[in-house]
Amino acid sequence: MEIRERVRQLPISPSNLRGMAIASQSDSHFPLIHCHRLFKSYPMTGIEVHALRGIDLDINEGEMVAIMGASGSGKSTLMNIIGCMDKQTSGEYYLDDADISKQEENELAATRNRKMGFVFQRYNLLARSTALYNVELPMFYASISGAEAEQRAREALEDVGLKDFMHHWPNQMSGGQQQRVSIARAMVNRPLVLLADEPTGALDTVSTKDIMAIFQKMHQEQGTTVMVITHEPSVADYCQRKVVIRDGQIVSDDKVANQIIARKSA
Ligand SMILES: Nc1ncnc2c1ncn2[C@@H]1O[C@H](COP(=O)(O)OP(=O)(O)OP(=O)(O)O)[C@@H](O)[C@H]1O
Ligand SMILES: [Mg+2]
Repeated sequence: MEIRERVRQLPISPSNLRGMAIASQSDSHFPLIHCHRLFKSYPMTGIEVHALRGIDLDINEGEMVAIMGASGSGKSTLMNIIGCMDKQTSGEYYLDDADISKQEENELAATRNRKMGFVFQRYNLLARSTALYNVELPMFYASISGAEAEQRAREALEDVGLKDFMHHWPNQMSGGQQQRVSIARAMVNRPLVLLADEPTGALDTVSTKDIMAIFQKMHQEQGTTVMVITHEPSVADYCQRKVVIRDGQIVSDDKVANQIIARKSA
């Protein structure tokens, strides 16, 4: 078992997080996420769309990064590759020192399930299932048993402030509440990386602040690496680093000067 994987199974404490940092320094060859000269083209009838055109991006374990850029600039394409949902046309992508381009579909699915958590603009919850069942679902794929899965799902929903909504269906909850269910679902397997594609795109300002407060809490308390795709500069300001993409290339990559610390509304 890899060292990171073993560390991840320990209870979370500051000393374990330090251990994780030491393990990653001494055992890793690359940063947690390593993209080098990444290209992605989509063959279309008549023309080929070049969605990514030579992305060089390294993200260390424990960073919180915003990815920004105009519509069509390649943000979701990059997230799909980093999230092991798609593969590049050329170039290197290493996640946790594994060459993802060499993984077959079943190995990729295992990597996605063990290491990645996903949050989308439209929540992607099962409409005819309770919040509790939606959060339990990824654990079934990770072979975690019924009682333990239920316990962990309950804790995850409490963590995002939904203790009283366990048995609600998605259509009985607000957009912000549904997004919190999807975050609990993304976090329940303790992913190394949380990838969020426009997570606040459908939310009002108060719900946006609540969602970013939850991401910051996961990032600080569990050491999760967080990547947030957003159009909104105010959302990027909750992150530590801001990467801007234009026409499939990185045009800037800067530390956020005055990171906003979100506090959950009452
Ligand atoms: N499956 C696909 N087949 C063909 N072209 C695609 C596909 N997915 C994306 N593209 C094209 O690749 C380019 C980048 O798309 P992408 O979805 O990554 O942009 P984006 O930055 O996420 O945009 P938005 O902010 O609107 O979500 C666009 O020109 C898009 O039309
Ligand atoms: Mg997109």
